[in-house]
Amino acid sequence: MLYDVSVNLDERSYEIHIGADVLDHLGDLCVDVGLKGKVLVITDENVGEYYAQTALNALESAGFSVSLTTLPAGEQTKCGDRVFELYSRCIEAELDRNSFIVALGGGVIGDLAGYVAATYLRGIPFVQVPTSLLAMVDSSVGGKTGINLPEGKNLVGAFYQPKLVLADLNTLQTLPIREYRAGLAEVVKYGIIYDAPFFNTLEKNIENLLEVGNIELRATVIGRCCEIKAEVVAQDEHEGGLRAILNFGHTVGHALENVAGYGTYVHGEAVAIGSVFAARASALLAGLSPVECARIANIFQAMGLPVHAPDYPWADLRIALNIDKKTVGGRPKFILASEIGTVGIGHEIPEEMMEQIWNGMG
Ligand SMILES: NC(=O)c1ccc[n+]([C@@H]2O[C@H](COP(=O)([O-])OP(=O)(O)OC[C@H]3O[C@@H](n4cnc5c(N)ncnc54)[C@H](O)[C@@H]3O)[C@@H](O)[C@H]2O)c1
Ligand SMILES: [Zn+2]
Repeated sequence: MLYDVSVNLDERSYEIHIGADVLDHLGDLCVDVGLKGKVLVITDENVGEYYAQTALNALESAGFSVSLTTLPAGEQTKCGDRVFELYSRCIEAELDRNSFIVALGGGVIGDLAGYVAATYLRGIPFVQVPTSLLAMVDSSVGGKTGINLPEGKNLVGAFYQPKLVLADLNTLQTLPIREYRAGLAEVVKYGIIYDAPFFNTLEKNIENLLEVGNIELRATVIGRCCEIKAEVVAQDEHEGGLRAILNFGHTVGHALENVAGYGTYVHGEAVAIGSVFAARASALLAGLSPVECARIANIFQAMGLPVHAPDYPWADLRIALNIDKKTVGGRPKFILASEIGTVGIGHEIPEEMMEQIWNGMG
C-alpha cells in the first residue's frame, strides 16, 4: 500500500487504501475489516471487462462466496429501475444481513451500488473499489450514495459510509484520457479550497501527472485529495455548512452541464469552466489577487481542460442556476476564494456582474 487515509466518523470510521495492485488484496482486506459470508460484486461493462475477474479471484481465495452483476456503463444506469434490478440480484445471490456488496467502478457504480447497500434489508455493508480518478478522489469518499430521477440528478439518496475503500492505481491505465483529465479538475479543486502548498505541487507536476505510470506521484496526489475530503466530511458529515466548500466551481459547472445537455461535457470539464468563473468572481468580490486568479485558469488549461465560456447566452445559464439545489430564494450562492487554499461559502454575485464575467470568459 502506498498511501492510507483514515476517515474518522466514530463507529462509521473506515480506511482508504491507495496503491498499485491493491485489487489483488481485496479479499484479505475485507476479512481484516470483519466482513464475511456472501458478496455481490457490482460493476459496469467497461470496468468489468478488465477487473472483474481479479476482484472475484481475490474474494474467492479469501473464502467468500461471490456473485457478480455487470451493468451497462454510463450515467443512465444510475436510476430507479437499476435499483430494483439489483435488489433482485441481491435476493438471487441470497444476500442476508451478514453479506456485503462491492462497488467496482466509477462514480456511477459507486453511487448506485452504495444506495442499494444502504437500503437492501435496511442496510448491508459495502466496499468501494473506485476505478475512475473522479471516484477515487471524490465520489467514493464521504458516504453520499444515490440515483437520478427523470426530473434531475442525484435527487434520491442516502448518507451511507462504506466499510473500506480500495483505490488500485493500476486501474487508471485503462481509464479514457478525457475521464482522467476531468478527474484532475476535482484534484485542483482541493488545492483551491483547502491547501495552497498542494496547489503548488500540482502546478509543478502537471506533465508528470498526465503521464501514465507515475505511481508514487499519483498515490500522493490522490491520497492528499482523500485526506482533504475526509477532513471536511468528518467536520460536516451531513452537509450542514462546511461541506459546501467542495462545490467550488460547481454552481456554474452544474448550470453549464444542464444547458449544454448532459453528456456534452464530462463533469470535470464543466467544473473547470465553473472554477474559472468562480476565480474571476473571487478576484472581484473576495480579494483573490489577479495573479492567483490567472494561476487557477492556467493550471486547468495546462491539464487540457476547457477554461473559456462556450457560446451559450448567460440568460440560459441564469435560468439553470435557479433550479440548483443551492439556490435560495432565486439568489444563487457561490463559494469564493480570498486566496488559493482559502474559501468562503454563501457569496452572492450581483446579477450584472455574473453576466459580465461569463461574457468576459469567451
Ligand atoms: N457520491 C458523491 O459524493 C459523488 C461525488 C461526485 C460525483 N458523484 C457521481 O459520480 C458519477 C460520475 O463518476 P465517474 O466520473 O467516475 O463516471 P462513471 O462511473 O460513469 O465512469 C466514467 C466512465 O469511465 C469508465 N471507467 C471507469 N473506470 C474505468 C477504468 N479503470 N478503465 C476503463 N474505463 C473505466 C466507466 O465505465 C464510464 O464509462 C456521477 O453520477 C456523479 O453524480 C458522486
Ligand atoms: Zn464534482
